[in-house]
Amino acid sequence: MDTSLSIRRLVKDFDGTRALKGIDLEIPSGRFVTLLGPSGCGKTTLLRSVAGISDPSSGEIWLAGRRIDGVVPERRNFGMVFQTYALFPHMSVEKNVAFGLEMRRIARAEIARRVSAALDIVGLGAFGTRLPKQLSGGQQQRVALARAIVIEPDVLLFDEPLSNLDARLRDSLRDELRVLQNKLGITSLYVTHDQSEAMALADEIVVMKDGEIVERGTPIDLYRRPAYRFTAEFLGLTNVITGEISGEECRLPWGAVRPVENAGDSDSEGIAIRPEDIAIAPTDDRADGIVEQAMFMGAATHYQVRAAGQSLRIVTTGGQTGVLAVGQPVTLTPPPVLHLLKSFRPAEEAAA
Ligand SMILES: Nc1ncnc2c1ncn2[C@@H]1O[C@H](COP(=O)(O)OP(=O)(O)OP(=O)(O)O)[C@@H](O)[C@H]1O
Ligand SMILES: [Mg+2]
Repeated sequence: MDTSLSIRRLVKDFDGTRALKGIDLEIPSGRFVTLLGPSGCGKTTLLRSVAGISDPSSGEIWLAGRRIDGVVPERRNFGMVFQTYALFPHMSVEKNVAFGLEMRRIARAEIARRVSAALDIVGLGAFGTRLPKQLSGGQQQRVALARAIVIEPDVLLFDEPLSNLDARLRDSLRDELRVLQNKLGITSLYVTHDQSEAMALADEIVVMKDGEIVERGTPIDLYRRPAYRFTAEFLGLTNVITGEISGEECRLPWGAVRPVENAGDSDSEGIAIRPEDIAIAPTDDRADGIVEQAMFMGAATHYQVRAAGQSLRIVTTGGQTGVLAVGQPVTLTPPPVLHLLKSFRPAEEAAA
């Protein structure tokens, strides 16, 4: 079934602020897309516009080739899960999940069957008669999820659904969501400002900034080959290094020379090197840098290394060799190919 979403030139003005500045976004059927960006960049506003809870100022939203931006939210057949669970406190878990189906005047036996199936899917088959207050936060959020999927929605919309949970629960529910998405294959738009959540869940990440889309891509592409410095720095830790570029090659500040994979891109904002992509080794000979700080973190060791006047982050794993001491002279081996970053310019600036 076609459940593709198409968002076209979407603009949202609140008095005085333009929260969305002409968003264009295509989401193919069954795709799980996360909207990732800092606080205030317009993620919730975009999600609410798709849900129909917020009226866009201009632009269009299409579902399966049908324009829906004039359709009331109840008739969009979208399931929604929010940061706060928004369950009815006086209703049992079953009643909460059944609510959307009762609104649709579905036969009682069919409702019972679907509610029980949805509760099984989220692992709460045995909790149907409890009240929300008799559940943990994670269980309440699973009820919210059951309520969203029980209506067999065309699209699932999530707004930071895990952010009220403690870290361990957040990780386990995140993994469950991923499994569930693989099983159900419902077109999903998922808002988060947590980059590891976005990478773990998404088929595709859309990076936003100040009401605009910066760039989009698979987690691997955006992590390894971001076009913009903004993306590189938002998705995990990165070193941004000023190198001397000549033709297809770059000389790094401590002397190493490497080819640049995207040397043709103008407007260089520096070379991005992820902390795990620099190899570090102790030396008594000619050193590239000196260990300034070493933090053993269990699975990895995090270093700050001073090299040619710059402080680099370096992460090593497989701690068989122990931890290098502060003050230790080291050699640095950069990755075989370097990647150049551009600076993101807002659309209005680019047009001017
Ligand atoms: N009801 C409103 N009235 C006026 N301005 C609003 C309203 N809702 C949002 N805004 C503004 O629109 C912009 C985008 O807000 P939005 O809530 O979409 O951001 P967000 O990316 O979801 O941020 P967060 O990560 O903090 O949830 C912000 O500048 C915000 O102040
Ligand atoms: Mg928000």
